Amino acid sequence: MLSLDAFSINQSYLHRILLNSVAPRPIAFVSTIDDEGRPNLAPFSFFNAFGVNPGTLIFSPARRGRNNTTKHTYQNLRQVPEAVVNVVTYSMVQQVSLASTDFPKGVNEFEKAGFTPLESLKVKPFRVAESPVQYECRVRQIIPTGQGGGAANLVICSILKVHIDESVLDENNEIDPDKMDLVGRMGGNYYVRADQNARFIVPKPLHSIGIGIDALPPAIRFSKYLTGNDLGRLGNIAALPDQDLINRWKANSGLQEMISNNPTLFYDNIRALLDEGKTAEALSRLMAALL
Ligand SMILES: Cc1cc2nc3c(=O)[nH]c(=O)nc-3n(C[C@H](O)[C@H](O)[C@H](O)COP(=O)(O)O)c2cc1C
Repeated sequence: MLSLDAFSINQSYLHRILLNSVAPRPIAFVSTIDDEGRPNLAPFSFFNAFGVNPGTLIFSPARRGRNNTTKHTYQNLRQVPEAVVNVVTYSMVQQVSLASTDFPKGVNEFEKAGFTPLESLKVKPFRVAESPVQYECRVRQIIPTGQGGGAANLVICSILKVHIDESVLDENNEIDPDKMDLVGRMGGNYYVRADQNARFIVPKPLHSIGIGIDALPPAIRFSKYLTGNDLGRLGNIAALPDQDLINRWKANSGLQEMISNNPTLFYDNIRALLDEGKTAEALSRLMAALL
């Protein structure tokens, strides 16, 4: 491991490490307005949602590392503590990137980047019509983490209103990830598109309490063929399989043969069962073959 002291390494290196390792990040496309009523639009990926009571979003227009100046978004929020946080989809991403240009103060990024301003209902800043989910927010608090270049300004927002384009909803009014087609920010010039190739399913371990990896028999737990993901799925089972099931698999001599003649094939079969959600069968076959 390369272990670095966060206070003594070069800040721009720490910034790159963060951008590449705390990733992918959601992107807030933030609309604000200054005290002269001039709109501003800029993306921020130091951003997330933090709760629902009240609905809370936080993003950070940081101080610039190179000259310790503040962003227009931050300056506007100090004057008019309201924002619209718009989500960013694949179809918007090139224009969003254009809107991140360091245009002079007062330049309207809606015009520069070709987005359509929509009036908000509760706050002064405009919504972005092209974004399928728009949060009208009041700023509760701004917390600067420092006064030097690169310091964060945590903008804590309460959501007053949420607008959802019906085209991204399913028949139950839930957001359909395929219809949303969100993008996330990574390090360098990399983005990620949350489409079917990027997404996968991990069932929530909520309906029952899993036995845990520590409760798996050592021959399984320390098998060089099983990965952490395999063990995570096996440890999520509610109880070890009963002996009858294991005995039935033991009676099937094919299993013992396969594990000694072709362990790779045996474990591939186990993994296929785990992929299908047949955890009890996978674990009983493992126990029959190994114990
Ligand atoms: C996808 C993306 C994410 C960004 N995230 C941040 C961020 O979290 N914090 C930040 O200070 N700048 C971030 N930037 C850079 C700002 O968007 C950029 O400095 C912009 O000019 C700020 O605009 P403003 O001065 O009008 O507020 C990001 C840029 C892009 C393209």
